Amino acid sequence: MNHDNYVIDDLISAKQIAARVESMAQEISTQFADSPQLVVIGLLRGSFMFISDLVRELALPVEVDFLETSSYGNSTESSREVRILKDLRGEIEGRDILVVEDIVDTGHTLHHVLNLLNSRNPGRMMVCALLDKPSRREVDVKADIIGFEIPDKFVVGYGIDYAQRNRNLPYIGTVRFND
Ligand code: IMP
Ligand code: MG
Repeated sequence: MNHDNYVIDDLISAKQIAARVESMAQEISTQFADSPQLVVIGLLRGSFMFISDLVRELALPVEVDFLETSSYGNSTESSREVRILKDLRGEIEGRDILVVEDIVDTGHTLHHVLNLLNSRNPGRMMVCALLDKPSRREVDVKADIIGFEIPDKFVVGYGIDYAQRNRNLPYIGTVRFND
């Protein structure tokens, strides 16, 4: 796809995403099979498409809640400071929770979010990330279930944006800037 000053190259197709989301959901359903009601927590905004596909595949009673943290702004560099822009609506004390993140990059966001959620004493907690860029990690944090490990490239699509654009792409692509 062509944009003003960049091109998007295909990385992960819609079909590959759907297949992986299905297998991740099966794994999660097995892990939480005995849970009375799982609270699925999506980190806005990047996880909105992933969480909507994922919950449809979960064979469990679920609740859906959202948490929004500050983002990169319009740049491709990670801001190291993480702020909570929108907190959860529900209580999670003693509840089993599944944290759904679009992509773990430096790890600062997830690290901060997990500290916050842990301080509320949930029951079992599992972290699910669609994408992981392990080579970029600055903080020691890891998702329990990862959809795809990807190289150190800036990606868009399937909920993930560049300067608020391209979230609506049904696939994931890498951004290549023209010079
Ligand atoms: P971290 O705090 O550096 O791990 O960054 C986490 C957040 O930065 C993710 O939830 C994304 O919203 C955003 N992010 C990281 N890498 C990318 C990318 O390649 N494209 C778009 N957003 C990204
Ligand atoms: Mg995000």
